[in-house]
Amino acid sequence: MSVESFSVCAVAPLHRPGFATRWDALARAENEVARLRAEDMVLDLVIDSGVSALSETQLSMFNRYAHAVNGAPYDELAAFVQDQFGFPHVLPIVKARAAENVLFWQLLTEGRDETPIVLGNGFFDTTVHNIAHSGGEAIDAGVHGQRPPTVSAPCRGNFDLDRVKALLDEHGPRVRGFCVTTTITAGGHPIDIDNLRAVRALADERGLWVVMDACRFAEHAALARQQVPALADRALPDVVRAYFDLADVVYISAAKDAMSPTGAVLLVREPALHQQLAGKIHLQYGYKYTGGLPLMMLAVMTQGMREALDERWQAQRIAQVDQFAQWLAGAGLTPWRPSGGHAVFVSSDALRGAVRWDRFVNEAFLNTLYLVGGVRAGGFYQGRGTARYVQELEAGTLDDKVLAEHMAVRLCVPRRRVTTMQLWYVTQAVAQARHAMQAHPGFVVRGTNPLGELVLDFAPGGDVEAYRAAVEERARVVDAMMA
Ligand SMILES: Cc1ncc(COP(=O)(O)O)c(C=O)c1O
Repeated sequence: MSVESFSVCAVAPLHRPGFATRWDALARAENEVARLRAEDMVLDLVIDSGVSALSETQLSMFNRYAHAVNGAPYDELAAFVQDQFGFPHVLPIVKARAAENVLFWQLLTEGRDETPIVLGNGFFDTTVHNIAHSGGEAIDAGVHGQRPPTVSAPCRGNFDLDRVKALLDEHGPRVRGFCVTTTITAGGHPIDIDNLRAVRALADERGLWVVMDACRFAEHAALARQQVPALADRALPDVVRAYFDLADVVYISAAKDAMSPTGAVLLVREPALHQQLAGKIHLQYGYKYTGGLPLMMLAVMTQGMREALDERWQAQRIAQVDQFAQWLAGAGLTPWRPSGGHAVFVSSDALRGAVRWDRFVNEAFLNTLYLVGGVRAGGFYQGRGTARYVQELEAGTLDDKVLAEHMAVRLCVPRRRVTTMQLWYVTQAVAQARHAMQAHPGFVVRGTNPLGELVLDFAPGGDVEAYRAAVEERARVVDAMMA
């Protein structure tokens, strides 16, 4: 157990919807937890992005720069980026996905006729789509899918270097560069610095670029330090810098490690590329010194990046997430190991009860967890969640073995917002929900609603009343913990 490295300066009460309210809220949300409202839940672990508690220094920025349209925050951001990250140019922008959009458009749409390829170690889904939007193809050449994630192994964010070389030989000049995600979305794992050095060397040999998607740059450095012996004694900012030194362009969503409500930054080395990107940002988002963000948000992002590099904070963060994983394992669940930075991924196999794989196991569990403890989590299936599952279900290609190994429920830990004691509560809710899953009949697709979203119904013949009684009984146990 690790003691929090901060003191709390503002608090908000948790919402406490009762069981009947939760049952009705879920019915209104058509059994889709993504449609629940914040007011409907006790704890929301569906995302770690844009949900961190702000520090007193970050909060003070809102007033200090409330009216500024140009000024010190940009200079401070640029100085911080230069000093800590070693990049001469920085472009603020509203979201990392907007950064991906302008960046890959710039990097991929000029030059060759054939579909350009970007190789990755574990792409985030918007990255795949933004590369496709620019006429390119994202090919995952990471090791993460090769072994069941429940079998512990260090640096699951590595590239499979043999596969990378084979892809370079096969596709030749169609491969335009690499996109390195730190940490990878599937499990939140780091990449070994030697693995990245090897990728850098291949890029240099062939004149390719290396882009880094580094929204979890500090968690990544902390985890890399634990998993790569050569980094063990180095200071956190040093480790971040060592990785960044190997990239030509880095983009950072400030809503994760930088604990900002929103915003992102693009770090660029080459003046010509900087000019091109600045021009595009100006057209699509706003002045190149703000990228469409209010100036106060630049100050919040810079301060958040500074706080992310605090050794004590990052040590406590990593230990808190690991503690959560250990508790879940102790309750009979199977978390992916080693623990990642931003979330615990729990294998769906151990919590599916009697639900068949083709009956929306994750959705059934997410519903049950919400009903039992008022907790929201997310589903995860090889990086693409329900979308991929539904595609495979429709195509008749669902494979029980692959699902058993790679389907998970993701419990994110919002930074500085959720206490370790509350994670104990969530552990109990997960354990109780797992029991109640024995009564879940599974889901089938009823169709889509007018917004095109999936609507699920209990599988025909299922005893919904028995399920309701089972979750209500388990909810009583969990609710009592919050008394
Ligand atoms: C690895 C990764 N890259 C990029 C993004 C996109 O960031 P943003 O929400 O700022 O667009 C995310 C968001 O969750 C992410 O996890």
